[in-house]
Order: sequence, then structure tokens, then C-alpha cells
Amino acid sequence: MRILVTGGAGFVGSHLVRRLLGHGHVVVNFDALRYSGNPDNLTDVAGHARYAFVQGDICDAEAVAQALKEHRIEAVVNCAAETHVDRSILDPSMFAKTDVVGTGILLEEARKAGIQRYLQVSTDEVYGSIDSGHSREEDLLAPRSPYAASKAGGDLLTLSYWTTYRFPVLVTRGSNTYGPNQYPEKFIPLFVTNAIDDQPLPLYGDGRNRRDWLSVFDHCAAIEHVLAHGEPGTVYNVGGGNERENIAVADALLRHLKKATSLIRLVQDRPGHDRRYAVDCGRLRKLGWEPTVEFEEGLRATVDWYQTHQAWWRKIKSGEFRVYYEQMYRQRLNLATRAGDDNSPQAPTTAWRIR
Ligand code: TYD
Repeated sequence: MRILVTGGAGFVGSHLVRRLLGHGHVVVNFDALRYSGNPDNLTDVAGHARYAFVQGDICDAEAVAQALKEHRIEAVVNCAAETHVDRSILDPSMFAKTDVVGTGILLEEARKAGIQRYLQVSTDEVYGSIDSGHSREEDLLAPRSPYAASKAGGDLLTLSYWTTYRFPVLVTRGSNTYGPNQYPEKFIPLFVTNAIDDQPLPLYGDGRNRRDWLSVFDHCAAIEHVLAHGEPGTVYNVGGGNERENIAVADALLRHLKKATSLIRLVQDRPGHDRRYAVDCGRLRKLGWEPTVEFEEGLRATVDWYQTHQAWWRKIKSGEFRVYYEQMYRQRLNLATRAGDDNSPQAPTTAWRIR
């Protein structure tokens, strides 16, 4: 197929572009190249005969229409999004713009161009925090951060195009994704790169929030599978089946790096921090997909990648990122407690102390 991947220079997008090229598709990467869109993610495919890059924003209807027409696009996968919860707390304005308005513009241009398949890449965060059990696709959405609420808006807009126009849309809701090339604002790459430099690891709250970790390779396989085989108008959850407390992930990556757990600092929590996400992936498994990457192995390979690709992340961390990091973490780290301190205002849990 001739596929337009928006946000193809980002983390999930770049892995998806590479995968689709490997499977014989023509791939057009449409990316605004804002802070996390990074051409360095795709240097290996830049000269590929079936690959083209267009710099553009999904909020720009004309640019979208032009790319769809010029490249005779048949399918669209929307990976373009503002994705980081903490940035959405600092400044929510871009989130509604890109994740809701941008999605609406992309959908409308795709519909007008007669696109055959449109896949919206979404997140399990739209279900909100759940104490127990697993979120299913038909559950009510209960997003709690500006990021998650914006993604939920994009999902609903996407699904309305099936109900209203019978435009063949699909939605995937992936769980926390990890792997090479992830921008180091996110938990795993931030902790790995800080640890390599013997810098403190800012763990929010009591460190016992839970996430289900999904390899980016499994995530992209799921997107490709749903694009090829999904029922139009349908949502598919994608989860790795690797639910872990944050503290356990931090411990594991420090172990791989042979660094001390004393690098961990318990810092002031994220406002409205969702305690737990977990999705039921029965629907996608029935469609024929299942995760293949075992978490400890995937984490080890990811840690190795950040160790052997320091030029990639040092370039990022020495740029705009420094301003963001200061704003997010300086005060938190000044007030932080070392894991194991008993006289802290945020007393570590017993489970933490006995580690
Ligand atoms: P993140 O990678 O931001 O993904 P999300 O919030 O979308 O799940 O964070 C994953 C978990 O790690 C989440 O519970 C918040 C926590 N976290 C920290 O403890 N410290 C940090 O510096 C960051 C970025 C995240």
C-alpha cells in the first residue's frame, strides 16, 4: 500500500516507518519536526526508493491535502501527537490543538481524498486510572490529564467518522511503550540516560504507580496488523502484559547498568498522577496479534541501545531539553529524599525500605 505516516520522525512513528518499508509498502513520512520529531531516527532509511519525507503539520489542511494527492496515498496512520503528560501539565495549549484539532483536520482531508484505511494511534491513558482489572475497548473514557483528555477527544472524533460517514477508521490504544529512539523526557529513557551519567533518578510519589510495558516493536506490529486486518469503526487495545511498579523498573534498569539504587530520589508527585493502567487485549489477540518481547529482555536491549547510542541522546539533552528539565525537576530534586531516608516528608513505604 501507499501509506502516509504522520509523526513518522518520532519514537513510535519512526519504528513504524521502518517496519512498513521492510514489508514492501511505499511510505510517506509527514512530520512537523517539532521538539521530539527527529530526522536522526531515520538516517538509515532516508535514501530508500519507497520512502519520502514531507515536512508538515497535521493542523495545516492544505499541506495534508497536497501530500495525500501528490503521493497517491491509500492509507493513513496518525502517529502525530503531543504525547508527554508532564508537558501537558506545564502547558496544555498545544495538546488540544494537535491531538484534537489536528486529528480532525487530518480525518477530514483523508475522507475528502477517498483514503481506504485510516488508523488513529492512541493510548490506554484515555481510560483513566484503574485500581484493578483491565480496561476494555467499550469502557467509558475517563481521561485525567490534559494529554489523555486530548487523545480521548481525538479518538471520539475518529470514531464519529465511521458512524457518520462510514469512513473506514481504526483506533489502537497502546500501553506504555519503550525501546530505542524514545525521547528522553519519558520515564525509561530519562532514567537510563541519567543513570549512565550518575545523575539522580526523579521517581514520582512513592514510586509504586503501575504501568503495562509494551515493546515498540510489538506496538508497531500491532498497528500494522490492525491496519491490514482490523474491522472499520473498531478500537483495539494493545498491551505488553508486563505490568510493573515504577520502582521495580528503576531497580531493573539500574541492575542492567550496574549502578547503585542510591541514585533514585523520591520526588514530589505529578499532579493527578494516574495510579495504574492495564488493558484487556483479547480483541486484538483474536485478530491474530500477540506480544513477543519479554520485558526483562526488551529492557536490557533498550538499556544497551542507550549505552551504545550516546551521541543520539546527548544531542537532545544538551538542547531545548535542558530548559524543560530545569523547569520540571530542579525544585523537585532540591527537595528530594534519597530512597531509604526515614525522616522525609514523603516517607518511603515499607516495601521500599526493605529492598
Ligand atoms: P511516562 O513515561 O511519563 O508515561 P505515562 O505517564 O504516560 O504513563 O511515565 C511513566 C511512569 O513513570 C508514570 O507513572 C510516571 C513515572 N515517572 C517518574 O516517576 N519520574 C519521571 O521523571 C517520569 C518522566 C515519569
